[in-house]
Amino acid sequence: MRIAMLGFGSVGRGIAEAVSEKDLGLSITAVADSRSGIIDADGIDIRDVLERKRTTGLCGTPGITAEDVIESGVYDVLVEVTPTNADSAEPALGYITCALTAGRHVVTSNKGPVALRYDALMQLAVSRNVQLRYEATVCGAIPLIQALEIGLAGNTITALNGVFNGTCNYILTRMTDEGLSYSQALLEARELGYAEADPTYDVKGIDAAIKLVILANSIWGLNVSLDDVDITGIDGLTTDALALAEDLDCTIRLIGEIIPEKRILKVSPRVLSKDHSLVVRDTLNAVTVETDMAGEITLIGRGAGSRETASAIIADILFIRDCYVERT
Ligand SMILES: NC(=O)c1ccc[n+]([C@@H]2O[C@H](COP(=O)([O-])OP(=O)(O)OC[C@H]3O[C@@H](n4cnc5c(N)ncnc54)[C@H](OP(=O)(O)O)[C@@H]3O)[C@@H](O)[C@H]2O)c1
Repeated sequence: MRIAMLGFGSVGRGIAEAVSEKDLGLSITAVADSRSGIIDADGIDIRDVLERKRTTGLCGTPGITAEDVIESGVYDVLVEVTPTNADSAEPALGYITCALTAGRHVVTSNKGPVALRYDALMQLAVSRNVQLRYEATVCGAIPLIQALEIGLAGNTITALNGVFNGTCNYILTRMTDEGLSYSQALLEARELGYAEADPTYDVKGIDAAIKLVILANSIWGLNVSLDDVDITGIDGLTTDALALAEDLDCTIRLIGEIIPEKRILKVSPRVLSKDHSLVVRDTLNAVTVETDMAGEITLIGRGAGSRETASAIIADILFIRDCYVERT
């Protein structure tokens, strides 16, 4: 199966490394980053591309763009792993729209297009008889969307609660363990590369809320936007609040919640007993799904990282190959 890739940063390189190391039956035929690109219908030597990116900062030839890659047509699946723009979703939205319109499958880790334009993109994909998959947009390596769509098919999901943001979870873990203030823990998270230079989206709960919107629209068809989520972040939390929780043998975690039937979507810091299944450490993510038949199921895993996110992307690509391409 032929893959074209837009974006060759942390996630893109993770995918390239996995494809070059493992015998997955995938061939990368085109790649673009923000300043260069490379296209070869016979398959690119991806180790060369990784080395060039590492030494020069470019994956290919300057002047070859993402648009050239999309228009080249030398691929079955477009893997879209450019930066998230939560306001307009561009330029990723345009890239994904062009590839779907041209009858190509798309796999993305980019929350913007899926959160803002899920219905329109899905309608387009259906009209062209192709797949749009986005497992990596929610909880990185955790196969949550597969579990909700396939593993729990036939169940009524009454509630979904989870830790959706590893940066906040790291900050809360450090505030509890070491008694650090919010600003000290945030500084540490930045130094370790867990928090962006501008951590607003994470600490104000917006990143977690975007993930709830993706789930609400794609799993339950609730047709909601960020405005429908009741959001409180962790930026107002004091060490006193955590100490108070500690006195009760509890701790605090930033929890995203969906109650589909009532259309409730909420992100807020919650006091949880220390042995609660959602009290995970450091940058881990965790999600508990409450169902009528399967009971309660909790998935815990890495919500971010180069290789971890590549895991979700590759699973989506192989799902398309095994379920759609080989049958047609
Ligand atoms: N990192 C994670 O753990 C993780 C987890 C889940 C989801 N995601 C999502 O996955 C996406 C990629 O994340 P990342 O961490 O890999 O980001 P990143 O390290 O910043 O890499 C982004 C890549 O996109 C390229 N790019 C930027 N604008 C472009 C354009 N217009 N056309 C083509 N390429 C363009 C950049 O080019 P240059 O190399 O030239 O700068 C870079 O190669 C984001 O949407 C992110 O939110 C990331």
